[in-house]
Amino acid sequence: MTAATDITYPALLTSGELGHYIDGTWQAPSKGGRIDTHNPATGKVLTTLGRGTDEDVDAAVASARQAFEGPWSRFTHVERQAVLNRMHDLVDEHWDELALLESLDMGVPVSRTEGMKAGILKTILFFATQTANCTGQTIPNSIPGNTTTLLLKAPVGVVGGIIPWNGPLTSQWWILGGVLATGCTCVMKPAEDASLTVLRTAELLIEAGLPRGVVNVVTGLGPEAGAALAGHPDVDRIAFTGSTETGREIIRASASNMKRLQLELGGKSPDIVFADADLDKAVPGASMGVFGNTGQVCFAGTRVFVERSIQDEFVERMVAFGRSLRVGDPLDPDVQLGPLVSQKQLDRVMNYVDIGTREGAELVHGGKRLSGEIAGGYFVEPTIFNNVSNDMTIAREEIFGPVISVIPFDTADEALSLANDTSYGLGGAVWSRDVSTVTKMMHGIKSGAVWVNCYGVIDPAVGFGGYKQSGYGWKGGTTHVEGFLYQKSVYLNAD
Ligand code: NAI
Ligand code: MG
Repeated sequence: MTAATDITYPALLTSGELGHYIDGTWQAPSKGGRIDTHNPATGKVLTTLGRGTDEDVDAAVASARQAFEGPWSRFTHVERQAVLNRMHDLVDEHWDELALLESLDMGVPVSRTEGMKAGILKTILFFATQTANCTGQTIPNSIPGNTTTLLLKAPVGVVGGIIPWNGPLTSQWWILGGVLATGCTCVMKPAEDASLTVLRTAELLIEAGLPRGVVNVVTGLGPEAGAALAGHPDVDRIAFTGSTETGREIIRASASNMKRLQLELGGKSPDIVFADADLDKAVPGASMGVFGNTGQVCFAGTRVFVERSIQDEFVERMVAFGRSLRVGDPLDPDVQLGPLVSQKQLDRVMNYVDIGTREGAELVHGGKRLSGEIAGGYFVEPTIFNNVSNDMTIAREEIFGPVISVIPFDTADEALSLANDTSYGLGGAVWSRDVSTVTKMMHGIKSGAVWVNCYGVIDPAVGFGGYKQSGYGWKGGTTHVEGFLYQKSVYLNAD
């Protein structure tokens, strides 16, 4: 096992106190001072971050505005593409450092980071291909005389990127990719629990040839730095990932100057397993659809609907799978599940375990915080509740931890109606070998992504979005890029 003392800490952590990254340089925090950020595997302070205020956000937005009007606006699409390509190479080159920072900051196990690397590199390459795709149209019209009608596209301007702590190294790229592909600029506000890889990425972007001020980072607390950004009169668009409650705050804050919004919010995704499914795939697939990233995934398939005729066998196999998982020090290459990100999230998850038990769900595996040598960290056992009913609290509210609710069903119609009986609609899955069952579910599940005989696969060219209170605005593909562009109609009269 790798002990924390055996590792070489990345320069970002040994360089002293961190500030905000504004206009291509480190800036000392203004009146807000600093906040601690922790290593969730030990509970110890990792470093201090700037506690951003409206003053810091003003400075970052001013820098982003200046960059938007300045040299960046004259970058051709091939020049923007070249920056993204160089960034691809720099992320590849600095991968070990970035992965270690992410792991120390939010607890992702190093065993997962190769997969993350592949995902991030292909996301950057995908957005590099999109720089030439910010295209308009010539549209035939019915106007008498000689008028040509065109649709032009233009970058929306300054984007505020507010992201959570469950995987900032990856999730920042959904915003940075759109910004760089279209010629926008941005101010990123990462979560107070995991800001380090966002700060380091901003530094690397300068090395990749991005002009100063195109990407700025203000760290700090949601109700302070986050709210200042969401309400800022000179920010044109907010791309937000986080809780549905905070999403509502962002909508309210955006009203002042009618900011464009893209919101990716909470979920309570259904994962439906039919009796004819290949259980060798469905058991690990449905389990990791929740346990992956210690349950801290927006589209985690936390409600596992199982056809009653296979319920006993399925649950037995899922418990065996849960038991086989190694939870512990994220730096140990054999560990599959790291800690939860913070004491706050640990308390929240343990509270839901209590509520589940009190409401009569059957706890068949896990449910406890881990003790022993890792007791200082925020570790919980992979947890499985059986015979949950869809109206229990644990089946209705987003837990954001490694907690599965198994809910039995008898017919496909019943499964579908239970699956859709939720205020969310982010993900969903079906496991079956029957094409008519699969087709019915694929059309019937009301969510922005449906996986068939797999779970949680995301491709940057395809993307995903939300139904209902899981948010709006598509993440990924050409539709995603459109969100960073204004459209303008032109009537060109040549008579
Ligand atoms: P949160 O939604 O409050 O935090 C996400 C981001 O929004 C952070 O950067 C935070 O600083 C910022 N923020 C908070 N309040 C803000 C405000 N008033 N204005 C602007 N920005 C603000 O989520 P939190 O408190 O970290 O986690 C609580 C629960 O939210 C989790 O247990 C989980 O259920 C859910 N959540 C869902 C996520 C998802 O991807 N669906 C991601 C993170 C949290
Ligand atoms: Mg941290």
